[in-house]
Amino acid sequence: MNFKLYLFSFLLYFISQLDIYISEKIVYIATERPMVVYFNKKFINNVSVASRRRNRDDPVYYINFYIDILVPLGNNVSVDVFFYELQNGRYHRTFVEIHSKLCDFIEAGTLFGESLKRAIKNHPCPFQPGQLNLSNLTIPLQNIPKNFPYKQGRLYCNTTIVRNGVFTKLSESYIDIEVRSGIVKKST
Ligand SMILES: *[C@@H]1O[C@H](CO)[C@@H](O)[C@H](O)[C@H]1NC(C)=O
Ligand SMILES: *[C@@H]1O[C@H](CO)[C@@H](O)[C@H](O)[C@H]1NC(C)=O
Ligand SMILES: *[C@@H]1O[C@H](CO)[C@@H](O)[C@H](O)[C@H]1NC(C)=O
Ligand SMILES: *[C@@H]1O[C@H](CO)[C@@H](O)[C@H](O)[C@H]1NC(C)=O
Ligand SMILES: *[C@@H]1O[C@H](CO)[C@@H](O)[C@H](O)[C@H]1NC(C)=O
Repeated sequence: MNFKLYLFSFLLYFISQLDIYISEKIVYIATERPMVVYFNKKFINNVSVASRRRNRDDPVYYINFYIDILVPLGNNVSVDVFFYELQNGRYHRTFVEIHSKLCDFIEAGTLFGESLKRAIKNHPCPFQPGQLNLSNLTIPLQNIPKNFPYKQGRLYCNTTIVRNGVFTKLSESYIDIEVRSGIVKKST
C-alpha cells in the first residue's frame, strides 16, 4: 500500500473516532434575580417567576412564569417596561421604555419574541381565570431596544388594569439583565 494513502486513511479513521464539538461564541442576555414586588390580590391569586440556566453547556437563561388569575385579562391590561442602567452599584432609570397592551405585547413578540407565543399557544390572550404556567421564556438580545446601550441593567415591568377609565395597579416586578458572551458546545 502506498504509504501516503495509508497515512491518509489512518488520519480519517482517527478523526472519525474523536468526539467533535463545534464551539460557538454567542452574545446573549443573562436574566437573573427576578422579583415580584407587588401583585393586586383582587385580580391575581398568586404569581412566581424563576430564571435559570438549563445546563452548563447552554449559557442561555430560561424564565419560568407562573400566575393564577382571578379575572379575564386582555388588552385592558397595560404593560409598561422601564429600562434601568447599573452605574456605581445603583440602578438609574433611562429614557428607554416600552408601553403596550397585554395581548398586543405578546402578539408583537415584544421582548420575549417567539418564546412567549410558544408558551401560551394553548391559552391564547385574552387569558381566562385560572393557572398559567409559561415555561422557557427567553429575551433575545435583538429584542432589547437598540437605544439601551448599557451592558448591565434592570428591567422593571409594571402592569395596570383599566376599567371604565379607572386605572388600578395590577403588578410590579423586575429582573436584572446583563449582556454576556459565552461558548455553546454543540456536539456534531
Ligand atoms: C403561591 O405560590 C407559592 C410558591 O409557588 C406558595 O408557596 C404559596 O403558598 C402560594 N400562595 C397562595 C396564596 O396560593
Ligand atoms: C378585561 O378584558 C377581558 C378580555 O377582553 C374581559 O373579559 C374582562 O371582562 C375585562 N375586565 C375588566 C375588569 O374590564
Ligand atoms: C403550574 O405550576 C404550579 C407550580 O409550579 C403547579 O402547582 C400547577 O399544577 C401548574 N399548573 C398547570 C395548569 O400546569
Ligand atoms: C422547556 O424546554 C425543555 C428543554 O428543551 C423541555 O424539556 C421542556 O419540555 C420545555 N417545557 C415546555 C413546557 O415547553
Ligand atoms: C414601577 O414599579 C416600581 C416598584 O416595583 C416602582 O418603584 C416604580 O416607580 C414604578 N415605575 C413607574 C414608572 O411607575
